[in-house]
Amino acid sequence: MAPVKPVIHRSTIENSPLLSCYNRETKKSSLCRLAILETEALEEVMALHQSVISELENPDLYIPYTREEMAGYLNQEHGFLLGMYDETGLGAFRVIAWPGEGKDNLGHCLGIAQSQLGQVIQLEGTNVHPRYRGNGLQCLLTEKAMGCLQPFEREGILLTAVSPLNGRSLVNMVALGMHIAGLKNQNNKPVRLVLRKSLFQESQQWQKGPWVEAGDIESHQKMLTMGLKGHEAKMDAEKGLQVRYGRPLLSHEGAIMR
Ligand SMILES: CC(C)(COP(=O)(O)OP(=O)(O)OC[C@H]1O[C@@H](n2cnc3c(N)ncnc32)[C@H](O)[C@@H]1OP(=O)(O)O)[C@@H](O)C(=O)NCCC(=O)NCCS
Repeated sequence: MAPVKPVIHRSTIENSPLLSCYNRETKKSSLCRLAILETEALEEVMALHQSVISELENPDLYIPYTREEMAGYLNQEHGFLLGMYDETGLGAFRVIAWPGEGKDNLGHCLGIAQSQLGQVIQLEGTNVHPRYRGNGLQCLLTEKAMGCLQPFEREGILLTAVSPLNGRSLVNMVALGMHIAGLKNQNNKPVRLVLRKSLFQESQQWQKGPWVEAGDIESHQKMLTMGLKGHEAKMDAEKGLQVRYGRPLLSHEGAIMR
């Protein structure tokens, strides 16, 4: 199947661009505006990106983009950025990509058939300025950005990679209906959890299994080898970030359980 080159429906954002966000600096709500970013926004995007990277408590949480990579997404050849502006400038952005069949396609980590790699849409990074954290912008920008790509003409596969130590991001991606389906290796060592969601599937029911510590890669490997998927994530005050594994139920099993 030929790789997806989704159409970006700009009107989805342009018809309803405004949202109110709590600003932690001014301690007031700011009226903010969403926009699909163009190449002219590169300097602003890189400035926000560098400031977010520089204040990460652990640099392993997040692999920075080069200027060239970001420019490649902004020109909308293999991705796009949805940005959020306040009256002072760019406050947040979300990157979505369609990686084609090349090595950057996370489908390789899940053993997705070559013929299906072209259907993969990838959630790349989200950066939220610290003054807007806590407004649920990672989830909101993802949903709005994905809304611009609807309707999919055929079955899309949504993938993303998250550090097992990036609790906020992992909890948010699971809240969006994604599940841990594999691991991404670097230098032959698993370093990222790979999450998946089928865009044509409404929702998934799970036969619930054990909880594992998010940072315990061996336990993830064990669960995945047993055919289980990580479908729930929570921050436990004593045990830290936890992931629950389970087995996907067929839709009729879900109906029986309800
Ligand atoms: C991950 C990230 C995008 C989440 O931002 P967000 O959408 O604003 O987060 P949420 O609204 O879901 O936040 C939920 C809670 O976590 C807190 N929080 C979010 N990010 C936080 C961070 N980096 N450090 C500490 N607390 C954080 C919020 O304040 C909120 O707490 P509250 O409910 O008590 O107010 C943001 O933290 C960020 O830009 N991080 C740096 C880059 C990164 O890691 N990106 C994700 C990988 S692609």
